[in-house]
Amino acid sequence: MKKCVLITGASTGIGRSTAEYLAAQGFLVYAGARKEQDLIALNEINNIMSIKLDITSPKEIASLKKFIEDEGNGLFAVFNNAGIAIAGPLMDISVEEIERQFQTNLFGLHRVTRAVFPHILEAKGRIIMMSSDSEFFATPFFGPYCSSKHALGGYSDSLRRELLLYGVKVVKIQAGRVNTKIWDKGRDMIPKYKNSLFSDEATKIGEHAIHKGKTTGLDPIEVAKLIYKVLTIENPKASYLIAPSTLKYRIIKVLSERKIDKMVKKELQKYKKN
Ligand SMILES: NC(=O)c1ccc[n+]([C@@H]2O[C@H](COP(=O)([O-])OP(=O)(O)OC[C@H]3O[C@@H](n4cnc5c(N)ncnc54)[C@H](OP(=O)(O)O)[C@@H]3O)[C@@H](O)[C@H]2O)c1
Repeated sequence: MKKCVLITGASTGIGRSTAEYLAAQGFLVYAGARKEQDLIALNEINNIMSIKLDITSPKEIASLKKFIEDEGNGLFAVFNNAGIAIAGPLMDISVEEIERQFQTNLFGLHRVTRAVFPHILEAKGRIIMMSSDSEFFATPFFGPYCSSKHALGGYSDSLRRELLLYGVKVVKIQAGRVNTKIWDKGRDMIPKYKNSLFSDEATKIGEHAIHKGKTTGLDPIEVAKLIYKVLTIENPKASYLIAPSTLKYRIIKVLSERKIDKMVKKELQKYKKN
């Protein structure tokens, strides 16, 4: 029987590439998406069955549980990929916006994981979390997103240790920039903060990040290949860092917070108009 994997947020980007790649390698993929046209397009791919899944909707999570039970293939793994990125100066961001960020990147992921856990336990399978370098390095003006990925890191580490006796592996994928639509979506947020105290530097840092994401970001297929590896090797690591270059991370590791803040301050000063 084919091994079955659920991927959340499979309409575009990393989720879509991973769905296509795993399906091509012979996995049966349950691909979660929200929009009708995405569900239709995914369903047309061999070895993919699409399922309508907004991870913030308890009703759709209940339908997911029923779908998996009705299909009767069990579930070897979930790739918790669905995510959004809310950016902007923290002092201009409402509690509701931070709640919206966490509803998807943490609470939604928790809902999905709990719903499918009995199947993964039975399969002694894998729970893969789409984290980010933002899990361990918080950039200015990406506060809601960075907070959610830091939280995801804690969640995943606790869960991994809770499951050590049960044969289920929990793996974090800490990705640097990947060239996906997430960067285009970020573009809409910049004008919202034009009257902010932080407008100069937030705008420039936002624009710079988007430009780098779109021009130097990894092809999402690279992440898809890593997910395949995590699903197929016997003993995956607790976390994998994947990025266009890992030099930045090696530097961060050896420098003190004070030193890093000095570098960030220099960057901010460059952008601040007098
Ligand atoms: N791109 C990067 O540089 C990068 C780096 C590190 C980590 N990541 C992480 O990778 C994951 C995928 O992002 P991506 O870069 O591939 O961006 P993307 O192309 O924007 O994909 C995001 C996916 O999440 C889905 N989604 C958003 N909210 C959802 C919800 N409430 N319920 C179900 N699905 C939802 C989107 O569905 P719709 O199409 O319906 O909106 C889409 O399928 C995210 O967790 C992101 O944080 C990305």
